[in-house]
Amino acid sequence: MTDKISNNNNVTWFNGYVGREDREKLHGHNGAVIWFTGLSASGKSTIAHLAEKELHQRGVSTYVFDGDNVRHGLCSDLTFSREDRIENIRRIGEMIRLFVDGGMIVLTAFISPFREDRRKVRSLLQEGQFLEVYVECPPEVCAARDHKGIYAKAKAGEIKEFTGISAPYEAPENPDLVIRSFEEDAPKAAKRVIELIEQRELI
Ligand SMILES: Nc1ncnc2c1ncn2[C@@H]1O[C@H](COP(=O)(O)OP(=O)(O)O)[C@@H](O)[C@H]1O
Ligand SMILES: [Mg+2]
Repeated sequence: MTDKISNNNNVTWFNGYVGREDREKLHGHNGAVIWFTGLSASGKSTIAHLAEKELHQRGVSTYVFDGDNVRHGLCSDLTFSREDRIENIRRIGEMIRLFVDGGMIVLTAFISPFREDRRKVRSLLQEGQFLEVYVECPPEVCAARDHKGIYAKAKAGEIKEFTGISAPYEAPENPDLVIRSFEEDAPKAAKRVIELIEQRELI
């Protein structure tokens, strides 16, 4: 990872005796993150968990970080204000960096509406370790799915700063994969995610 460096608090990084490449050798595959981004109910969680299931069955060490779950613990103190959304993704980025250093294939399902935040996470990792998957789905289709009932609440004004309705969503400009979840079913989308991972020779 990083060489021994001191930060302003005189905290020095301790380089261990086992490195990422050693861990990758043990796992039999590389560490990387498959970063899903898209509106609420676009299908990020559904597709990420299906892809994880397939990878797990193939013996790949995986972990899914899901937006709602992270907000129950690590980020339970954060709101959905612009400032807190930025902090949410910053913390997640740092956590993922550790998992990738641990040689895992991490799949993430966060709306992550801001391009700059996604760029920052990418910049924490090495070339080829961050694959961005844009789950594209029109807000009307997401709102019609509304399996969690949150679009209805947002439209009723009960949820402020709701991405796609009252808060912006910045689509990726150059994603590694686009899934148009209004045309393509979830199992087929998950299969294409696995194909992407194979093409990049991560597994
Ligand atoms: N092609 C598709 N891909 C993913 N989800 C789909 C698709 N078509 C319908 N759905 C449904 O849409 C909903 C997506 O919800 P979820 O995966 O929780 O979205 P997100 O994590 O993006 O908020 C689920 O109820 C899922 O069954
Ligand atoms: Mg989700």
